[in-house]
Amino acid sequence: MATIKPIKSTKPIKRIGILTAGGDSPGLNAAIRAVGKTAVGQYGWELIGFRDGFLGMIEDRWVNLDKRGLVGMLTLGGTVLGTSRDKPHRMPVAGGGTRDMTAAIVKTYRRHKLDALVCIGGGGTHKNAARLIAQGLNIVSLPKTIDNDVALTDDTIGFDTALGIATEVLDRLHSTAHSHHRIIIAEIMGHRAGWLALGAGIAGGADVILIPEIPYDVEKVAAAIRLRSEHGSNFSIVAVAEGALPKADATELTQLLARRDKASTDVARKAAKQALSAWDKARAGHTMRLAKQLEELTHLEARVTILGYVQRGGTPSCHDRLLATRLGTAAVEFIREGKFGQMVASRGDNLVAVPIAKVAKSIKVVPANHWWVEAARRVATCMGD
Ligand code: F6P
Repeated sequence: MATIKPIKSTKPIKRIGILTAGGDSPGLNAAIRAVGKTAVGQYGWELIGFRDGFLGMIEDRWVNLDKRGLVGMLTLGGTVLGTSRDKPHRMPVAGGGTRDMTAAIVKTYRRHKLDALVCIGGGGTHKNAARLIAQGLNIVSLPKTIDNDVALTDDTIGFDTALGIATEVLDRLHSTAHSHHRIIIAEIMGHRAGWLALGAGIAGGADVILIPEIPYDVEKVAAAIRLRSEHGSNFSIVAVAEGALPKADATELTQLLARRDKASTDVARKAAKQALSAWDKARAGHTMRLAKQLEELTHLEARVTILGYVQRGGTPSCHDRLLATRLGTAAVEFIREGKFGQMVASRGDNLVAVPIAKVAKSIKVVPANHWWVEAARRVATCMGD
């Protein structure tokens, strides 16, 4: 089943580092534990955990993860190491502006005489890791995010737990929506990908599922809800991804993303990123606006539930514990084999090595013909298009 076979390492490994970066997700501690139990317990290496993502490497804040330090972590949510969304090449400085602190990270890596660094994170972490690989650091990464949007892997640590939480919320919203004859809109995380809203929407029996990959027409959503009323169901559950967009907004976003991706100078890139973030800010409250529109179009009362950080908190599911343990132990084998610059990706039953530089270049969104989309349509779920 597994494609990874331990081989004799070319260079004896003595000490490795580990960090967690980006938004936290359930299963991070299970992954740290798996790396530690294999590296420290099986091979007798030293393991240093850096605090708060890449910031801990910049500031040289760390903790020694010995055998005792790895106890009791499997079921803990969050990350015992702390995390941050800091970008080493653009660290804010007092008084405004940013400074490139990449050299400080390289220095910390060398000072601790690390043979490798394990970075656990999502898209931003992989971009940071790719820059550090270019500076000569031996990095192996693990994909983590509740959004499941990391490129070139089927699965990410934390997604399954968040999916379970969002599904339970939809289950619970049914009885109150039904009792009050209301539309209840549940806003589900996922950044610019619809995996969480789609998966939870199907599993939780949502009547409407809106995801960024399928721009919606509010008139069509309202028509689907009215049709349900005509057939005797005068309540509806709408699962909306935080990144879901009406058609007009989707065109604007596509243009802004293209501008950012095509920018060839630092100045142009900065301007494009600023335009994108201003656009994102202006969309704040879009789910409330959707609720108002649906009330006007259907004459039913609408309420909004924003799931928010509940989706990221608490104990990891069995699936995430298994995934984290499998990926974490494999990361250590990658290091033994000298497979640096690679992410341990999950593909079906197998684990494969994928270049971090490639992972950093894109995100994984829901393909229009994905079987989840087809299944949702077959059970008559309105996808808003
Ligand atoms: O990346 C995970 C995620 O939870 C997204 O779903 C969400 O858009 C974002 O993080 C929230 O970010 P922050 O923790 O910075 O508020």
